[in-house]
Amino acid sequence: MKKLMSVILVVLLFTLTACSESQSGGDSSSPVSQGGELSFAPSDKQNEEQSDPDDTEETSETAETALKSLVVYFSWSGNTENVANAIKEQTDSDIFEIVPATPYSDDYDTVVDLAQQEQRNNARPEIADSIENFAEYDVVYVGFPNWWGDMPMILYTFFDSYDLSGKTIAPFCTSGGSGLSNTVNEMKELEPGATVTDGLHIGSSASSDPDDTVGKWLSEIGLAK
Ligand SMILES: Cc1cc2nc3c(=O)[nH]c(=O)nc-3n(C[C@H](O)[C@H](O)[C@H](O)COP(=O)(O)O)c2cc1C
Repeated sequence: MKKLMSVILVVLLFTLTACSESQSGGDSSSPVSQGGELSFAPSDKQNEEQSDPDDTEETSETAETALKSLVVYFSWSGNTENVANAIKEQTDSDIFEIVPATPYSDDYDTVVDLAQQEQRNNARPEIADSIENFAEYDVVYVGFPNWWGDMPMILYTFFDSYDLSGKTIAPFCTSGGSGLSNTVNEMKELEPGATVTDGLHIGSSASSDPDDTVGKWLSEIGLAK
């Protein structure tokens, strides 16, 4: 009889222990059903413990990503293109050439006459291609040759076509002797929502070796890398 009682007691104790383990989960992982199969998902606490302590740092590093910049230029005979490429190299920018849908003649006198006519007519010559993801850029370097004391009219097409508010515009120009003329002020009027930096002017003959001048200008306007 005494032996029977102790066997019953042992069975009772065993049953109670098994019950209490299944109610508390036993293992801290809780089973979840995935497509009919059970698998073990870590508990919330485990998730917290496993989260990378450096996560906060990574988030703030991502927030400090560098400004994205684009060089946009028009060039008829290549001088402005040289400067555009130097800026691209020194700033790690993307680059876009404004190409007219209707190409200009290769003949100097013809272009001089047409450019004057376009200016008198306040023309907006069509641009062949468009810029992808323009909204992504923070800084836009805008380059052109001085034509008749102003930007070529196709630059006005560019400013009409894209929203530059909130961006920084850095103007650059090549010319015979007129410098930037009034083009920087003109850009400020065209884009009141943008910040327009001091402009860079490089004479036609110096445009084949623009690196030093470009570097100095980028430092002055606070955009050197
Ligand atoms: C149609 C036309 C008009 C120009 N008008 C001027 C001008 O008013 N003042 C000036 O200094 N240079 C003028 N130039 C000279 C250009 O600004 C200069 O050669 C420039 O560096 C050319 O740049 P690009 O090779 O990028 O086209 C003119 C050139 C052309 C073709």
